[in-house]
Amino acid sequence: MIKLHDLYFKPFISAQEIDTAVQKMVDGIAEDLGDEVPVFIGILNGSFMLVSDFVKKYPKPCEVTFIKLASYEGVKSTEDIQRLIGLTQDLTGRTVVILEDIIDSGNTLEEVHRIFENENVKQLIIATLFYKPEAYNKDFKLHYVGMEIPNKFIVGYGLDYDGLGRDLPDVYQLKTTQHMTNIVLFGPPGAGKGTQANFLKEKYDLIHISTGDVFRFNIKNETALGMLAKSFMDKGELVPDQVTIDMLNKEVEKNAGANGFIFDGFPRTNAQAKALDELMEGKDSQIDAMVALEVDDEVLVGRLLKRGETSGRTDDADESIIRNRIKQYYTKTAILKDYYSDQNKYFGVDGVGSVEDITVRLSTVIDKL
Ligand code: IMP
Ligand code: MG
Repeated sequence: MIKLHDLYFKPFISAQEIDTAVQKMVDGIAEDLGDEVPVFIGILNGSFMLVSDFVKKYPKPCEVTFIKLASYEGVKSTEDIQRLIGLTQDLTGRTVVILEDIIDSGNTLEEVHRIFENENVKQLIIATLFYKPEAYNKDFKLHYVGMEIPNKFIVGYGLDYDGLGRDLPDVYQLKTTQHMTNIVLFGPPGAGKGTQANFLKEKYDLIHISTGDVFRFNIKNETALGMLAKSFMDKGELVPDQVTIDMLNKEVEKNAGANGFIFDGFPRTNAQAKALDELMEGKDSQIDAMVALEVDDEVLVGRLLKRGETSGRTDDADESIIRNRIKQYYTKTAILKDYYSDQNKYFGVDGVGSVEDITVRLSTVIDKL
């Protein structure tokens, strides 16, 4: 992923794929033009990279020149095309091939046709590397198209967003979801996960998704997914990951404009971690970090026994049950620690100290994401 000015872009078309498309255009044009010596005209600024690569591949003699038009403001095409540099040579009787980086609305192309109206060229051929059929609203024939693309804003290979991105050899697409901070919060029982999650969601304006709460909500409200989950639980079976993922997906979609999410209680396995990655990718987003509160076993046992005295939770009253829960946590999270460490996304945070101190430590990690 890359950031240009205020916007995020994700990889879309590789330099390799572009090269193949350019070669295809070269082959088609070279074959059709035979021994005619064409004048290739690039439309500046965007086409400089295409023209350079194109003419290097062109197998026969040719001439190259440029005109400079401007229509785009930010990420939107405008009707108002400015001629910044016009034609500087007589093209009477010549075969002219326009080399465009991209044809979007076709406004620029219309201006190109206007420019050539009185030039008496032998033929005017239009070739464009990228073409957005859904955006094109003109009738001019496009003789050669390198690649049709969806109606999304792209940068790279000559194309810019407010001046940046032209230098990139690959093409990137504007992310439909702008940047979110998504955290998987981990911690053994008694680590203070719930307390910290509450602080973090306030501080960073994140949505806290506790899988346990999501389950209880769906079952209580008898949603389709809740009933499905319950049917497995009633049989004493584990709820399939897909059901849980579908529930989480609904939560994420309910909060589509969020700054990000704190996932709590999920994932628990590699397969779930992968599924969560896919879910976020589908939302044009990502998991940024697994943040794990690290607390010594003896401290945890002490804290939980103390909580058991007042909470009435039976699983907090028995020391051997507590120790077993802690052990289970480490067995389970060890795998996930590896999963996220491999992507440089694991952050262990010392969970011993005052609530405020721990919040500060967590914030130090999150501020860097
Ligand atoms: P049109 O006039 O709407 O067809 O747009 C043509 C010009 O707009 C191109 O030559 C580019 O300079 C610019 N443009 C169109 N789509 C994009 C895009 O997705 N990214 C960057 N520039 C674009
Ligand atoms: Mg252009």
